[in-house]
Order: sequence, then structure tokens, then C-alpha cells
Amino acid sequence: MQNAAHEDDSVLERFHFLVNAPALFNAVTTAAELRIFAFLSSKPGSDAQDIRAFCGLPAHQLRVLLQAVCTTGLLERRDGVYHNSAVAESLLAADDEPDSWSHILTGWKEVYYPAFAHMTTALRAGTNTALQAHPGDEPTLYGRLAHDPGLEEVFHRAMTAFTLRSVDALIEQPVFDGVRHVLDVGGGDGSTSARLVARHPGLTSTVFDMPSVSRLASGAEAGAHPDRVSLAPGDMFTDPFPEGPDAVLFSHVLEIFDEDSILLLMRKAYAALPSGGRVVVYGYNVSDDETEGVFGARLGLYFNVLASGRGMAYPARDYERWLRAAGFDEVGTVSGLPYEHGLSQGVKR
Ligand SMILES: C[S@@+](CC[C@H](N)C(=O)[O-])C[C@H]1O[C@@H](n2cnc3c(N)ncnc32)[C@H](O)[C@@H]1O
Repeated sequence: MQNAAHEDDSVLERFHFLVNAPALFNAVTTAAELRIFAFLSSKPGSDAQDIRAFCGLPAHQLRVLLQAVCTTGLLERRDGVYHNSAVAESLLAADDEPDSWSHILTGWKEVYYPAFAHMTTALRAGTNTALQAHPGDEPTLYGRLAHDPGLEEVFHRAMTAFTLRSVDALIEQPVFDGVRHVLDVGGGDGSTSARLVARHPGLTSTVFDMPSVSRLASGAEAGAHPDRVSLAPGDMFTDPFPEGPDAVLFSHVLEIFDEDSILLLMRKAYAALPSGGRVVVYGYNVSDDETEGVFGARLGLYFNVLASGRGMAYPARDYERWLRAAGFDEVGTVSGLPYEHGLSQGVKR
């Protein structure tokens, strides 16, 4: 009886997908790492023999892998030959582009998902116990990755790919009209700043991030605008903010931390800005009732289990409250941006 009652229940359907999703996630990542989506993009309609000649997997193992990826809908098999779905073609085929989802899959596989096995322990302990798997004694993943340059590069490649997928909604916002110099706090490898200055010809940017990350920035997209994107290595909590910005940007940064640290950073931004200067907070928002947002849910868990032991994809109303508490006026949010993103801002009177 109970089964019949659940037959049409979309929650049940989602549950069935969900419990198999970790295996399927890894199958899709493996197919991406074997470059099967890139191969099928150049040779659509290949059969298993062709794919095998390209990727070198044993015939049976390839059969198992292709079956798994077909169940996700990313690969389609018609008349015994294989094609990328439209989604695979758009997200995974061009796997050497910096915004390819293939970088995100590898980053989540190597950094995020191993940590989630520690979720119960970490949430009970109230701290990011999964960090113990990474060498060093720094309290956050960002600090510890400096000990593992290979993993740090995988991590930042994934983060950059995601940033590039969501950055257009940021750079098109009128909030940057008339801004002269933006301070991009926690600006990572500078990809956001590079896109911002390319879109706004009058703008310069200073990317402020940990020294080991600034090293990555000089080789990445930011290097394409040496005269308008500068790097300022430092710790956003213990070092002073560089002088001269009329806007401070926190893109995918404040959600890493708790209320006290966020308020500290907002007050530091307020102090660094001239009258009329603005602060821009861009990133994931969960819904105001905190029931929606799958990207935000994953991110909040990742912060608490591994990255920082605190933080979450806060609802926009939290950011607005903190901006007012830090002294900003004209506080407001543009919500509903792609990938569950929102932009909150405030102006220093
Ligand atoms: C999630 S990433 C966001 C990168 C970039 N802003 C974007 O939108 O893709 C967070 C960044 O904050 C930096 N970060 C974390 N703690 C920091 C600290 N104490 N001082 C400076 N940067 C820090 C990390 O190195 C990382 O590049």
C-alpha cells in the first residue's frame, strides 16, 4: 500500500537518483577524465570499438562505464553508436577551455567528495575534522593547500571554471558603472577581475589573496591585463587592505566565514572606502526560508566539513543585515541570478 501511495511521488524518484548519484558522479567524471565527451564531440556516432581505441579501457569495463553514463542522459546510444547529449556537448566537450565543467568534476572528486565521508563526525564535532587529511596546521583548507601545489592547482582550476560560469551575471551589473578601482578581496587567481576590467574599460582592479594563490594569478587570465589587474598578496584578516579602491568586491568569499568574521571584513571594507564608495557581495544565496538551493546546500556542507568549519550560502537578508550593521546605506540585493547567485551591495555615505 505504502509503495503504491509513493508511486507518483517526485521525492521518491529523486531519492532513487540520489542514492545512486555518488557512483554516477564518479562515472561521469571518469568519462570526462578519459576525454570521451571531447572524442564524441569530434566523432559523433562512434561505436564502442572506436571509443575503446581512443581511451584504451578494456572492452568490458568500457561497456560498464558507457552504460552508467547513458543512464544519466549525458551520453545517448542510438542504433548501437554513441552521441553526446546537448548538455554534455555544452558543458563537457570542450575540456581544454578554462570554463569546462570537466575541471569542476575533477576538483569536486579530489577535494570535496572525499571529505563528505567525514560529515557525521565533523557536524557532531562542530568543526572541519576532514581537514586532518591535508598536511599542515592552518585552520582552513585555503591555508593548507599551499603545502600541496598539485592539489591547489586542481582546486583553483575547478573554482575558476565555476567562477567563469557565473561571472557574466556579476560583470553585467550596473553597480560597476562609474567605479574606478575595485579591490577584489579573496580574488583567487584573478579570473573575476580579468573579466571585470575587460567589460569595464575605465576600471582597474587589485586582487588580494593568499601569497600562494597570487602565484597562480600571475600565470592565469589576470596576466592578460598586467596594466589594469594588480596582485596584492596577503591575509584578509591580519593584513591591511591595499589603499585606493572606490569599491570592494567579495566574490564567493564571505560565505566561507561566520557572522563575526563577516562583520569584521565588512567593517574593514567600510574603513578602506571613501565616501560614496560601495561594497559588493556576490555569491550563492539559499532561499530566505532556507529550504531551497542544492548548490548552496553542497557548499555549506563543504565549508563545515572541510574548508573552514563554519559558514554557509547565507540568505540575502543576512548579508543585508550585516551590511547595515557595518555602516553601509542604500543596502539592497539583486537575487535570482544564475546558479542560485545573488548580489548584495551597500554604499558608504
Ligand atoms: C571560494 S574562493 C573565491 C575566489 C574568487 N573570488 C571567485 O569568485 O572565484 C575564496 C578565496 O578566498 C581566499 N582566502 C581564503 N582565506 C583567505 C585569507 N585569510 N586571506 C586572503 N585570501 C583568503 C582563498 O585563497 C580563495 O582564493
